[in-house]
Amino acid sequence: MKILENKAAIVTGSSKGIGRAIAIAFAKEGCKVAVNYCHTRESALEVSDEIEKINPSGSIVIQADVTAEDEVKRMVNDTIAAFGKLHILVNNVGIFHRCSFLEMSLQEWESIIKNDLTSVFLCSRYAVPHIVQQKWGRIINISSTSGITGGTSGAHYAAAKGGVISFTKALSSELAKSGVTVNAIVPSKIGTDMLWGSYDEEGKKTLLTKIPVGRFGTPEEIASLALFLASDNAGYITGESIVASGGYK
Ligand SMILES: NC(=O)c1ccc[n+]([C@@H]2O[C@H](COP(=O)([O-])OP(=O)(O)OC[C@H]3O[C@@H](n4cnc5c(N)ncnc54)[C@H](OP(=O)(O)O)[C@@H]3O)[C@@H](O)[C@H]2O)c1
Repeated sequence: MKILENKAAIVTGSSKGIGRAIAIAFAKEGCKVAVNYCHTRESALEVSDEIEKINPSGSIVIQADVTAEDEVKRMVNDTIAAFGKLHILVNNVGIFHRCSFLEMSLQEWESIIKNDLTSVFLCSRYAVPHIVQQKWGRIINISSTSGITGGTSGAHYAAAKGGVISFTKALSSELAKSGVTVNAIVPSKIGTDMLWGSYDEEGKKTLLTKIPVGRFGTPEEIASLALFLASDNAGYITGESIVASGGYK
C-alpha cells in the first residue's frame, strides 16, 4: 500500500516550486491532490497533467487567491465536492519582496502579512473542520529560516514567517486530541522562481559561499520532508518546525 493511499490533500500554491514538488510527491504515494494557483493556470494544468499520469482522476485544479476569504471557502468546498473528503492541508503559498525597514510602507507590510500569514489562517480555518471529521489529518505549514533568524529579506517577511511557526504550535495543541498533527517546514535557499528572482548571478555566487553544504536545496528535498510529515511514521510529531537549509542560518 502506498503511503498516502485513500487520502486527499490541498496544496496551496502548487503550480510551481516547492508546492509543485509536494503535490507530485503526494500523488506518487496515492494521494488525491487539489492543485491551487493564483495567476498561472498553464503551470497548474501541467502539474495536474503530471499527476494524472501517475494517478488517474487524482487531481483537480483550483484557481483561488488564498488571501481572499470567499475564494478559500470555495477552494475547500470544491475539494470536498471532488474528493468527498480532506485529510491534508499544505499551507505553502508565500510571497517575498525584499525591503528595508525605513523604506517599508504600510501597504508593503500588509501585503506580505496577508499572503504569508493570513492565508495560513484562512486556509486552516476552512479546511480544519473537514480534516477533523476524518479523525486523522495533517497540516503542514511552510515557513522560512527568516522566521527564526530574522534573515535579510525584511521585517515583514520575518514577522509573517515567525508568525507561521507560532501559529503552528498553537494550532497543534488545539488539534492534538483529534488525530491531526500540525507542523512547519522551515526551508532556506531552495532553487525556485522565488529564489532566482531575488538574486542576480553575482548575488547567487556570493550566497552559495554562505551555504555550508555548498549548494542550493531542491524543491524535491522539501517535498520528501513534507511526505514524511504527512505519513503515519510522523504521527508522534506535532507542533514542530523542522529546518531544511543546508546549514544556512
Ligand atoms: N524558495 C526558497 O528558497 C524559500 C525559502 C524559504 C521559504 N520559502 C517558502 O516556501 C513557499 C514556496 O516558495 P517557492 O519558492 O516555491 O515560491 P514560488 O516558486 O514563487 O511559487 C509560489 C506559488 O504560490 C502561488 N501563489 C502565490 N500567491 C498566491 C495566492 N495569493 N494565492 C494562491 N496561490 C498563490 C504561485 O502561483 P501563481 O504563480 O499562479 O500565483 C506559485 O504556485 C513560500 O511560502 C516561501 O515563502 C521558500
